[in-house]
Formats: sequence, C-alpha cells, structure tokens
Amino acid sequence: MRIIIEKDYQDIGKTANKFMRELLINNPNATLGLATGSSPVGLYKEMIADNKAGITTFKNIKTVNLDEYVGLPEGHDQTYRYFMNDNLFNHIDIDKNNTRVPNGMAENLENACKEYTDYVAKNIPDVQILGIGSNGHIAFNEPGTPFDAHTHIVTLKEGTRQDNARFFSSIDEVPTHAITMGIADIMQAKMIILVANGIGKSKAIYDMAKGPITTDCPASILQSHPNVVVIIDESAGYLLK
Ligand code: GLP
Repeated sequence: MRIIIEKDYQDIGKTANKFMRELLINNPNATLGLATGSSPVGLYKEMIADNKAGITTFKNIKTVNLDEYVGLPEGHDQTYRYFMNDNLFNHIDIDKNNTRVPNGMAENLENACKEYTDYVAKNIPDVQILGIGSNGHIAFNEPGTPFDAHTHIVTLKEGTRQDNARFFSSIDEVPTHAITMGIADIMQAKMIILVANGIGKSKAIYDMAKGPITTDCPASILQSHPNVVVIIDESAGYLLK
C-alpha cells in the first residue's frame, strides 16, 4: 500500500487525477470503478477539466459504481445515480449507456445483486476509486461484512446514516438500506485509489493502513491488495506519524 500525503483537498484531486490521466491515455477502453461521497469530487473536477481540454476522452470508457441507496425514487437528488450524473457524467463525453450504478429500486433486489456481481466480474475495473467511511467502511460494506461477500443489500449503521444526514433535510429521510458491491468484487480491481481528507477520517485511515486485517475495519483488507494508492491530507494522515 502506497500512501501519499498532500497538503489539501485540491491537491488530493490533482494527484489522484495524475494516475487517472495516465490510465485514460494508455487505455482509452478502460473500465473505471467509481465512488460517490464528497472525497472523490475534487478528482472528478480534474477529470472533467482534462476532458474539456481534449487531453482525455471517455467515448469508449465503461464505468461501474460501488453502491446505491435502496428505495429512493429515480431522479431523487440524493441517489448516487444523480450524484454521478451531476458531478461527472453530465460534463464529459461519456455514453451514459456505458455507466452502471446498482439499481436500488429493482423489484427483485436479490436478482439485481446477482446481475451486478456478474457484470463486475465481466468488466473488472482497471482502477477502482474509493472513499472511506469514518468507521472504516468501503462502499457500504459496514464493519462485520465478510470479506468474501459479493454485491448485497445492507442495513446501514446508525453512524453512517448520521454521517450522510447532512445531505438530507432530516435523518428520518436517510434510507435505512443500500445495495453495495461486496469486498470480493472491489478487490478484483487491478488498481485501487483511495482518497480521504479531514480529521474525522484519521482513525479509519490508521486502522486501514496499520491495524490488523479484520472485518471490524473493512478497509483493512486493502493491505492484501497488490496495487493500492492512498491519497490523503495531513489531517486524515495525522495518526500515521
Ligand atoms: C458513503 C459512501 C462511501 C463513501 C463514504 C464517505 O457512505 N457509500 O462510498 O466512501 O460515504 O463519504 P465522504 O467522502 O462524503 O466522506
């Protein structure tokens, strides 16, 4: 695991984008694993700028997203599909038919999980972007999730709902369930870039990088992946010193 400490959020995005730009230039048919949350938005801004400048193109790029809330209606501004359109896809030359986000409104959620697992296995990301929850979750794999899980439905921890309540008008509106790629799906990616900032992530970052590999900190499994780059600011890296 390579850890890069940057001075601020903007530099995290710029550094993450150096890896992304190289991939997009060398492999214009790549599959990108993408994440939501505030952490990767700086990277997405850099990706948009490169695309607008003609440095990269997404015409033949496929994307798979990590997760989605269950039960939010299509078009709701807190769905992760809306987030991805708004923060990236609407601003680049990608064909949205090549972008996948798990379907949190599927009538048969078990089938939707299976289909997603199969799709990811056939379209293994060349790079997977990750954030991290303050409890060490990746995607919506909460502490205790087995490392061999594939796409599944989760009951969100109360702390995760509280962390995400800032995006809703009240905590009661935060969904209680989500559909998420499992850790076994995520670990297939050829390369993983995890971005995080702020003191609130420092314990999760420490446990991920220096703690035991345990389902108590789902992100700790990344220690066993051969190609992980962690890009954080000094606050998030504070406990590593
Ligand atoms: C949500 C997402 C995760 C994300 C986490 C952190 O729970 N499911 O994929 O990593 O939030 O979000 P943020 O980057 O906003 O701190």
